[in-house]
Amino acid sequence: MAEKQQMVGEVYYPTPEVITQAHIKNYEAVYAEAQADLAAFWGKIAAANFEWFKPWETVLDESNAPFYKWFTGAKVNIVHNALDRHQRTATRNKAALIFEGEAGDTRTYTYQQLHYEVSKFASILRSMGVKKGDRVTIYMGRIPELMIAMLACAKVGAMHSVVYGGFSTEALHGRIEDSQSRLVITCDGAWLRGEIVPLKNITDEAVNRSPVVENVIVVKRTGQDVHMEHGRDHWYHDLMALDIANPNASTEVMDAEDPLFILYTSGTTGRPKAILHTHGGYMVGTATTLKWVFDIKPEDVWWCAADPGWITGHSYIVYAPLLLGATSFMYEGAPTHPYPDRWWQLIAKYRVTILYTAPTAIRGLMRFGEAWPEKHDLSSLRLLGSVGEPINPEAWKWYYRVIGKERCPIMDTWWQTETGAFMITPMPCVPLKPGSGTRPFPGVEVDVVDEDGNSVKANEEGFLVIKNPWPSMLRTILGDPDRYVQQYWSRYSEQGWYLPGDSARKDEDGYIWIIGRIDDVIKVSGYRLGTAEIESALVSHPAVAEAAAIGIPDELRGNIIKGFVILRQGYEPSDKLSHELRDHVGHEMGPIAKPSTVDFVTSLPKTRSGKIMRRVLRAQVLGQDVGDTSTLEE
Ligand code: WT7
Repeated sequence: MAEKQQMVGEVYYPTPEVITQAHIKNYEAVYAEAQADLAAFWGKIAAANFEWFKPWETVLDESNAPFYKWFTGAKVNIVHNALDRHQRTATRNKAALIFEGEAGDTRTYTYQQLHYEVSKFASILRSMGVKKGDRVTIYMGRIPELMIAMLACAKVGAMHSVVYGGFSTEALHGRIEDSQSRLVITCDGAWLRGEIVPLKNITDEAVNRSPVVENVIVVKRTGQDVHMEHGRDHWYHDLMALDIANPNASTEVMDAEDPLFILYTSGTTGRPKAILHTHGGYMVGTATTLKWVFDIKPEDVWWCAADPGWITGHSYIVYAPLLLGATSFMYEGAPTHPYPDRWWQLIAKYRVTILYTAPTAIRGLMRFGEAWPEKHDLSSLRLLGSVGEPINPEAWKWYYRVIGKERCPIMDTWWQTETGAFMITPMPCVPLKPGSGTRPFPGVEVDVVDEDGNSVKANEEGFLVIKNPWPSMLRTILGDPDRYVQQYWSRYSEQGWYLPGDSARKDEDGYIWIIGRIDDVIKVSGYRLGTAEIESALVSHPAVAEAAAIGIPDELRGNIIKGFVILRQGYEPSDKLSHELRDHVGHEMGPIAKPSTVDFVTSLPKTRSGKIMRRVLRAQVLGQDVGDTSTLEE
């Protein structure tokens, strides 16, 4: 059994045992190597760890910055590296995915079996006319077929656009329309806390508003009756039983810079943006970060408890573990179903060695007390991880003590949909400070700066910036390259720095402490939502003339949403209407976007140009000084 970590002050030092085992034993040395020659650093990793159909001419092409290109000239497919190449080695017989459903049903796919399913489904997609460059929307629960569908799209060169199963009609509709997906893959329903989330019904509502959709493939999961539209809707199991479902389907040869997927995320203004990632750089970035940060070994059982519908799941449930030939565990349901020890029971049952989850989940489970984890043998764990929002030291220490038994280092990984992979993160050999993501990953240069780009003093708040490109970076916003430049590269265009949209502090040891978003993004339970989307859902109700949404700090969920509305003539404020408006947002956007309160107001603070000043609303709600209001209309 491993020793406990050494703690000095508030710094947690890794044990010699952890360092000896780790892939990376000396962070400083590897960081310095990357700084010395970024292209050589990534080129070496890319050549040593992946199979390329054709090698690259240039590792990093900066000629059209900020439209950076990586591994230009190379031919590759991420699925070849995630599945196909493993068929030639002992990895073919290893578990790629161990799945447990909420009801306790289990399934295991070896690399061979997963390859078989993905290949068959890829040939079904081809038979439906899906080809290189097409977009396919996937809207499913957390089940193996979600992974199979994503990988099958990538195999044929189509971009998947996964919409999180917790989103609802309008969110799904908007993403189908924006991506112009002619095919949607869904399930009849998803299990959540013993109940069925009616994904097919929601898909029907969304698709009925989207004439672009020609085909819908439906995986049977929950088994209740669903409407199947003749000529449009097809059962997955019927298609997979056809002779044309070919287990030897070929893998499309792609350019390294060809799109792999789009994933919608919320930004400062307007509709969600389709963040675009590519086959080559994303492959190199995700696999390398997972290997080094979570120190993946052949014997590990890796559990990333996120949903594949978010970037965390794309990178660290679907792609990176398969690229490394690792074994992943996936659980369908809620952590508290049927009891608050479900996760701890699963760790014991499958001897999970690494758990990666979000602070909100830890805080939620912490509330049920230590007796629940105490009931289970958690001794298989050797590393823990956190992602999605700053982790408060109290939750960090509970996670560390009660779950990790003071011997599992916690990797607090800061990154974004846009970055594709971890950017600021410890590795097992790095001393930890609870609440800090510690230091940048090798090859990533970060700073905390003021409006003019000057580094701020130690421990002062400023804007987080990333000073150089990295392989798994987003390449653009699909269909809106101007917005890509505007959103991420315009604030510090002279210096050529990337602006993530977070504020942060850097301490005297160079450790980064993330504070929060500087824009109109609200992080609710780690989920990223835009005020604009919530407001447009509110305004789509007939009673609402104008709306504003803000995030207010909350102990459990990080933030909660408060809505403010101005009613149309003829409508009167009432508790009933307030409830109705909250439910309306829930129906259109999904339960996670439902405001905790909706208040009625007669005016909203606006700038003279008509922009809602959410900062002023937030300050009013929190009873804080409203700050500079010189641009306020009245
Ligand atoms: C935003 C990105 C990428 C994984 C899931 C979120 C916040 C993310 C941390 C962390 C403090 C964090 C930031 C970031 N965030 N990880 N470890 N510590 N904040 O991806 O939905 O694109 O959200 O999540 O504010 O900008 P995302």
